[in-house]
Amino acid sequence: MTELAFTHTEAERMSAAARDALLADPGFGNVFTEHMVSVIWTKDAGWHNAEVIPYGPIPMDPASSVLHYGQEIFEGMKAYRRADGSIVTFRPEANARRLNESAVRLALPEIPEELFVAAVQALVSVDADWVPSGADQSLYLRPFMIADESFLGVRAAERARFMIIASPAGPYFSGGVKPVSIWLSQDLSRAGRGGTGAAKCGGNYAASLLPQQVAAENGCQQVLFTDSATVDTIDELGGMNLFLVRADGTLLTPRLNGNILDGITRRSLIQLAEDRGHTVEQRDITVSEWREGVANGSITEAFACGTAAVITPIGQLKSPGFAIDFGAGAPGALTMSLREELTGIQFGTREDRHNWLTEI
Ligand code: PLP
Ligand code: COI
Repeated sequence: MTELAFTHTEAERMSAAARDALLADPGFGNVFTEHMVSVIWTKDAGWHNAEVIPYGPIPMDPASSVLHYGQEIFEGMKAYRRADGSIVTFRPEANARRLNESAVRLALPEIPEELFVAAVQALVSVDADWVPSGADQSLYLRPFMIADESFLGVRAAERARFMIIASPAGPYFSGGVKPVSIWLSQDLSRAGRGGTGAAKCGGNYAASLLPQQVAAENGCQQVLFTDSATVDTIDELGGMNLFLVRADGTLLTPRLNGNILDGITRRSLIQLAEDRGHTVEQRDITVSEWREGVANGSITEAFACGTAAVITPIGQLKSPGFAIDFGAGAPGALTMSLREELTGIQFGTREDRHNWLTEI
């Protein structure tokens, strides 16, 4: 299984000048490289047909189960170009493991971790020229798996397809590292007990789009979801985990309660903060505790984190009933120092002491 070799069909390449023009200011999620990975799974034959092929539309039967019942999962990870020109990925085996955890919840097949990592290697090697080298730029990789059996009965599909597409990207939030505003979604929830909140499946993001629209209408860049019963215990943001920082240097982050994603950035930051001697409390945190902490000066910083967002300071929390500002519009000191350390490891200016990088 894991010795499955990737065949390669070469795409028609664009000129270096045209590519460089796209890489100059790619934004996030707009530009795609010239190839993609595709591997097929069937119940009878397992994983087969591992290919690197030209990027483009895929044929799909309109009865394909993903189109009707949303049986889909995905990952988000990045390849970074270091100053010496070499390319690395960050903890790809953690993404492979998480994809498989999502697969179990969505009744999709698990993919061997080595096949996932080999697929990442194959695509990034073929499209290496697309890994940008500008400040805060990287190649965002989007592995995903869809059920594509043509069958309308409601049961787990017996045919699936794993793919990876790649997108050169700048920062997720435009305007550099400046504090974002977040909207507390009180009447619209994303996840509930026993649901799919801990899986990285498209349905969770579909559920977040309306609240995200409400957030934008209220001048906010992200939505904060809470436990749907209390509307006070914090879960996470639409596409990021959340940390608070206390004046004594303690970090607080919601525990993995089954409703939130086990973020790889979250996990890495917990490690880096603990390495520095900070205490990190993973527990239930309420919006009330956050508000009181800001009011009495015991909570001094807040930030969002994720592959796309990296570490983004939070400057304001809003809801229909209140708006609280943090840090006078400036990012927190610990927030920025952890950001500098994490991105330093990823871009090779700091020692990779936990062996998080895999060279392409
Ligand atoms: N939470 C959600 C809902 C996300 O979409 C993401 C992004 O992938 C995260 C958290 C952060 O996860 P990671 O750090 O692994 O990217
Ligand atoms: C990621 O960070 O990889 C995500 O999937 C989140 C999304 C906001 C792009």
